[in-house]
Amino acid sequence: MTASIGRVVVLLGAPGAGKGTQAQILSERLGLAHVATGDLFRAAVRDETPLGVTAKGYMDRGELVPDAVTIEMLLERLAQPDAQAGILLDGFPRNTAQAEVLRKALAEKGGRVDVAPYIEVPEADLVARLGGRWICRAAGHPYHLVGKPPIKEGICDVDGSELYQRSDDQPETVQARLRQQLGALDQVLGYYRDHGVLKTVDGTTGIVNVTADLLKAIVPAIGDRS
Ligand code: AP5
Ligand code: MG
Repeated sequence: MTASIGRVVVLLGAPGAGKGTQAQILSERLGLAHVATGDLFRAAVRDETPLGVTAKGYMDRGELVPDAVTIEMLLERLAQPDAQAGILLDGFPRNTAQAEVLRKALAEKGGRVDVAPYIEVPEADLVARLGGRWICRAAGHPYHLVGKPPIKEGICDVDGSELYQRSDDQPETVQARLRQQLGALDQVLGYYRDHGVLKTVDGTTGIVNVTADLLKAIVPAIGDRS
């Protein structure tokens, strides 16, 4: 990576907490590049690249993809021109080793994580959210059968592409994701608490209210550029 980097927001939350939903709204509102490792992996799986072939097995089992692969992909993404003005990370870091790599990579560019908002949602709600989720093929815009149905059934409101269910949203895989990943999330929360940037937001109050609460947590830390 080269030169300096702008503001850095790390959006934290369990699988299904609403990271993707909120990241799409906030990145536009705040002028930050939305960097989602899950979306990057899904694009690689779709395109059947070597990275996608490696990642698929882990994702289907609800496990984290190994750090070496994930970190290389993330660092390449952070080197892209659109990331230089600032980034909103969704799904990275997932463990403290990834958090340390991120800290060092940002420090090399004179940057740091400015704020790490945590969208807190009880486990029972996560299962219901993931079971009813549909996302669009073009950009991963998330919907929910009950909570956020699209205007036209099976079609994305934003870009008109087809909606589908993620293969890792099957009930058994959802349970595996929660079982395998919640412990590591707790450690990441502790890491950012220790660094003084963790802000916890209630994720059960509806999408609009969660956005408002996230903005209250983020804007004082990064300034509002809109
Ligand atoms: P990833 O794609 O990051 O999945 P995840 O963390 O499991 O999170 P989700 O995308 O499932 O949920 P979300 O928090 O984005 O919720 P959403 O907004 O969609 O990762 C997938 C896999 O890739 C991982 O399991 C792993 O294998 C691999 N991977 C990715 N990053 C990695 C890394 N760094 N290291 C290693 N491996 C990695 O919302 C969910 C649903 O809830 C939607 O239906 C939505 O409409 C609804 N909803 C949202 N907000 C609300 C609300 N406030 N009230 C009611 N419903 C709501
Ligand atoms: Mg997501």
